[in-house]
Amino acid sequence: MNIIKKTIIAMSLASGAAFAAGEVSVTIDAAKPGPVINKNVYGQFAEHLGTGIYEGMWVGPNSTQPNTKGWRNDVLGALKELKVPLIRWPGGCFADEYHWREGIGPRGERPVKVNTTWGGVEESNAVGTHEFFDLAELLGADTYVNGNLGTGTNQEMAEWMEYMTSPSKSTLAELRRKNGRDKPFKVDFFAIGNEAWGCGGNMTPAHYTNLYKTAASFVKAPNDNKPKFVASGGTGDDTKWTETLSKEVKGDMMDAISFHYYTIPTGNWEVKGAATGFGEDQWIATMKQTMAIDGMIRKNEAVLDKNDPSKKVGFYVDEWGTWYDVEKGTNAGFLYQQNSLRDAVVAALNFNIFHAHANRVRMTNIAQMVNVLQAMILTDKDKMLLTPTYHAYRMYVPFQDATSLPVALKGNANYSLGKVSVPEVSASAARGKDGKVYLALVNTNPKKAVDVSINVAGTKAGTVRGQVLTADAMDAHNTFAAPQAVKPAPFEAQASGGKLSVKLPAKSVVVVAVE
Ligand code: AHR
Repeated sequence: MNIIKKTIIAMSLASGAAFAAGEVSVTIDAAKPGPVINKNVYGQFAEHLGTGIYEGMWVGPNSTQPNTKGWRNDVLGALKELKVPLIRWPGGCFADEYHWREGIGPRGERPVKVNTTWGGVEESNAVGTHEFFDLAELLGADTYVNGNLGTGTNQEMAEWMEYMTSPSKSTLAELRRKNGRDKPFKVDFFAIGNEAWGCGGNMTPAHYTNLYKTAASFVKAPNDNKPKFVASGGTGDDTKWTETLSKEVKGDMMDAISFHYYTIPTGNWEVKGAATGFGEDQWIATMKQTMAIDGMIRKNEAVLDKNDPSKKVGFYVDEWGTWYDVEKGTNAGFLYQQNSLRDAVVAALNFNIFHAHANRVRMTNIAQMVNVLQAMILTDKDKMLLTPTYHAYRMYVPFQDATSLPVALKGNANYSLGKVSVPEVSASAARGKDGKVYLALVNTNPKKAVDVSINVAGTKAGTVRGQVLTADAMDAHNTFAAPQAVKPAPFEAQASGGKLSVKLPAKSVVVVAVE
């Protein structure tokens, strides 16, 4: 950077405080509150896939593993710390092959099926509707049920909804009572199909849109227990799904359009890249790939703003996260992968992007909660470990239902390797429900710490206090032998001479309260 450019940057600082060469200035405008960051932006996804549910979370009430209503106590305890706001279930691709009647009644009598999508293993149906709602209630989470449009019928979806939500004495509501649940379940969100462009039926947007309208006409719930209805949208750069759905589906029939995007280091589904043991080329490629979601959301928002200017329709990123080559020796259909510091940085970058789109992005669901893709928790029989991604979620808890605040960055350089470049620092701020101003910072550069000056426009910031997540290696991760290798550490700084500066370590995530 030349001297003139540096001088201009220093002079244009909103707070008027000088910042040194090579320093990034972050200014939070606490007087200009933006939209609320819906807590469901921190939603989770639990599919009948690999050991994501069975073994990873569900062991059954008769297990010697300590459990509550069949759900592992150790996993429940860890998830409670994340204040999991929402769980999407039962899929994913699995949802379009799931028949809800097979998952109710005495567990020993439920049909055993083959999970043809994921690994060809036996699906015992031990976890069904009642068990899912038990899990959500144990965690205090909202529920997001994904209906079967692929191999199911509108009647089947309509009857499932009646079974779950009806307070009446109908035969289906009475069946629910016979199965142990008097009060209707609270279904907060209901999706009609999943990835209709792919595993959900290989449809065109127009064909799916017609099927959606028909299904949404018949899947009914009582007015005081009506879920938000979610249409299955597109993926990647394709906006056709958002375009067709937002143009064609009118009125109250659709509350949101879903969107899926996975971060694949190589961008090649055949050879995605390894979860650990990768080089810096794959580190930066992963940063680049994940940050591309910002442009995708923007494009879809532009379409929605044209067709839905009142912003009634939400844009739910109901599947996202890293997707690597599976770990050697594991079932390829189980999508089991390690989770490193890189995943935590990816998670934080995505959170910051989602916050910036809080108006439309009112829900996201990372894929997936336990043992599958970018998981919070990995288990090995009775053992459990928390991944770096878990720690990123834990650090960002104050952003749930917080009010977003504008943040201006000055002097933010690019981190580059070869021809690939990404911004070095990503930042996001919000006023938490406790009234405090929170700031999240990410340093994408794995080799260089960045000096950051923190300003709150109109006031003097005195201290920052919170946590930092970093490690020596780009692929640092937790194992069952060393489950605490990557974990957050306290992070604190105080203003000196009227200036509040911090050193953001290389490859790190920092979340602090600014006071
Ligand atoms: O999360 C794994 C799978 O990825 C989901 O089942 C599907 O919707 C997506 O393709």
